[in-house]
Amino acid sequence: MRLGVVTLFPEMFTALSAWGVSGRAIKQELVTLGFFNPREFAFDKHHTVDDKPFGGGPGMLMKTEPLIAAIHAAKKSLISDSDNKKAKVAYLSPQGKPIDHSVIMELVDRDSMVLVCGRYQGIDERVIEHEIDEEWSIGSFVLSGGELAAMALIDAMIRFKPGALGDDDSANQDSYSNGLLHCPEYTRPQEFNESKVPSVLLSGDHKAIKNWRIKQSLIATLRKRPDLIDEKNLNQEEKTLLKECIDESRS
Ligand SMILES: C[S@@+](CC[C@H](N)C(=O)[O-])C[C@H]1O[C@@H](n2cnc3c(N)ncnc32)[C@H](O)[C@@H]1O
Repeated sequence: MRLGVVTLFPEMFTALSAWGVSGRAIKQELVTLGFFNPREFAFDKHHTVDDKPFGGGPGMLMKTEPLIAAIHAAKKSLISDSDNKKAKVAYLSPQGKPIDHSVIMELVDRDSMVLVCGRYQGIDERVIEHEIDEEWSIGSFVLSGGELAAMALIDAMIRFKPGALGDDDSANQDSYSNGLLHCPEYTRPQEFNESKVPSVLLSGDHKAIKNWRIKQSLIATLRKRPDLIDEKNLNQEEKTLLKECIDESRS
């Protein structure tokens, strides 16, 4: 996957490229990042990248011409000679469609994308109309810039790239992958603050462990995110175990 990131602060992305799972994946080129800084496309003496909003009001907007030039350069860099397919341009925005697990699964299959990180009070509406194909939000709150949102998106996608995790199956067992939250997990010591690891996990009985995990996953989801249970089409095994959980909680 090739990503062209339009940002005034490319250095921020070392938080992804220098550390952990994402750092290894980027070194292995499972995902490649190219940076396009509007400042390098601002040709006045001071390389100005902000401008006042028409109509007045607090704050500044990203200056239009350098931003558009950076977006075009990012798009151009992603067109491959073989298929000439144009990459979609996504603007990270608090007004965008919320990113969730299903969005990540959709985006991770793409070959390339341009990610536009806003700063200041954002970008000119006409840039959105003419240059942006989609707007994505990481939540109903406002960050100072799109970089952290872009990094969250890239990190979440990387986890589903084959070879990124020690065990490729691990991401598929995480919360949301099957519509439920992940079950509780335990590691050593077996006893901690007088609290013991559930004995079934030490039993070696694989069927019992599997059932316990599904049940715990259902319980965690019911307690923390009951809205997910409503949405999910439970399979027969999950329905039976959910009924058992509810019966047990009543007795
Ligand atoms: C201070 S915000 C601008 C907010 C804008 N004036 C508004 O109220 O909609 C600056 C930039 O941060 C990014 N941003 C802020 N919150 C975000 C969110 N929840 N998800 C994705 N990007 C966000 C966007 O790129 C935005 O252009």
